[in-house]
Amino acid sequence: MFGPPGAGKGTQAERLGRRLLIPTISTGDLLRKEIRNQTEVGLLLKKLMDSGKLIKDSVVTSLMSDRLEDRDASRGAIFDGFPRKVSQIDILDSLLEEKNRKLLRVIALEVPTEVILQRTTGRRVDPTTGKTYHTDDDPPPEGVKVVQRSDDTEEVVLDRIETYYNETEPVLEVYSERGLVSKVDGVGPIDVVERRILRALGLEKWAK
Ligand code: AP5
Repeated sequence: MFGPPGAGKGTQAERLGRRLLIPTISTGDLLRKEIRNQTEVGLLLKKLMDSGKLIKDSVVTSLMSDRLEDRDASRGAIFDGFPRKVSQIDILDSLLEEKNRKLLRVIALEVPTEVILQRTTGRRVDPTTGKTYHTDDDPPPEGVKVVQRSDDTEEVVLDRIETYYNETEPVLEVYSERGLVSKVDGVGPIDVVERRILRALGLEKWAK
């Protein structure tokens, strides 16, 4: 699941994963878990992530590789936020080859900057379950306590968008040349975007 910050990658990956009975592997979530657990790596990560910059390939790769070994990922997985720069394409290729797996499709969600800002600044997360909500578009049920991500301030989101266009978008060109990319309009209600993704994947039976 590919796209700029706040494009809905996590939201849609979660829904698709529930249908296909496979997990989502989000590098952002794996990194935030290191921060929450206050590991040695985690303490260094927070500062970098709060400035909208990307984390070193070696750190992300080792988290990804370990996660892929988990039993729930044995039938497949949806990657959210990886690869995020051109150097990570080779890393993923080697990882998949090593584990005898294949990248089947890249769903590229397209969302303009004004929508990204509205979505990210309104995003709230349940720290217990990790479930994502939005103050206006998908409010949490009554009684569920939610928090704002520290990199969801307007200033940091603008930096993350810049990082996306400079470092991440070129990844799409490489996958387009390999014929793997399906571009999907990411603007509209969550259910509508989900149906577009299902159609792009040839899963029309679920898209009604
Ligand atoms: P990461 O956590 O991956 O952040 P991101 O890519 O910026 O994406 P987001 O999680 O912000 O958004 P999303 O597209 O998942 O949107 P969501 O579904 O939540 O990465 C964070 C940081 O980690 C990076 O900046 C970097 O430092 C580091 N990092 C991560 N991966 C790395 C890597 N591979 N290499 C190096 N560094 C790495 O939706 C957003 C909001 O909108 C939610 O509130 C949701 O409810 C709402 N929403 C979603 N869809 C809709 C819709 N259709 N209509 C209305 N609202 C919607």
